[in-house]
Amino acid sequence: MNNQGRIDTAAYHKNHRYILDILKSEVDQNISNILEIGSGSGQHAIKYASAFPNTEIITSDIVPKNLMSIKAWIKYSKLTNLRNPFYLDVNEEDWSLNAPDSLSKNLSLIISINMVHISPIKSAEGLFKGAGNYLGTKGKLILYGPFKRNGAHTAPSNIEFDNWLRSNNPSWGIRDVIQMEKFAKNNGLSLIKDITMPANNLTLIFN
Ligand SMILES: C[S@@+](CC[C@H](N)C(=O)[O-])C[C@H]1O[C@@H](n2cnc3c(N)ncnc32)[C@H](O)[C@@H]1O
Repeated sequence: MNNQGRIDTAAYHKNHRYILDILKSEVDQNISNILEIGSGSGQHAIKYASAFPNTEIITSDIVPKNLMSIKAWIKYSKLTNLRNPFYLDVNEEDWSLNAPDSLSKNLSLIISINMVHISPIKSAEGLFKGAGNYLGTKGKLILYGPFKRNGAHTAPSNIEFDNWLRSNNPSWGIRDVIQMEKFAKNNGLSLIKDITMPANNLTLIFN
């Protein structure tokens, strides 16, 4: 733990460059807003805010310690295009319930990194449902993390990781891209890109 509650995670240092490269190549520089689900420490959001200075970055999480860390990183960054985090559980019917300002139903981008495998499958379903409700017509949903393709793991180390996840919590586990596509379809979205990333992760982009 850093000063003033700023959490520093190894996963952030492992992934942030790749995620930022994808955002820079796949996302219009002047989009209005980005809603991050499960912002965790908040470190990724600071990077989005620097890379997209004309975009409002909206952060969220469900864990009080994370919400404090996100707030602390925002303060530390001195960036002005970040909104203070709010409690958002993707399983909530109304995502704007706890939002301090109203949450637009015309969001440009929703991003969630390493969330759907460390939560029950219903959270992935909730994420797609919310994305269907809150994204504008051109809006995109980006998921980043480990996924299976057609029932198969993309790397042996992901099998071990999946076993580890399930032994910690039987409702966790690496999800299949096909399952994500089903949830997407049920909510008026479809997979437009499936990008192989370093460290056995994928970036999935839905619109
Ligand atoms: C492995 S952490 C990843 C954090 C951050 N995205 C990152 O990559 O550094 C998973 C995050 O998902 C959040 N999360 C888990 N279940 C959630 C839910 N139902 N709704 C919203 N966020 C959730 C956790 O609180 C945590 O911050």
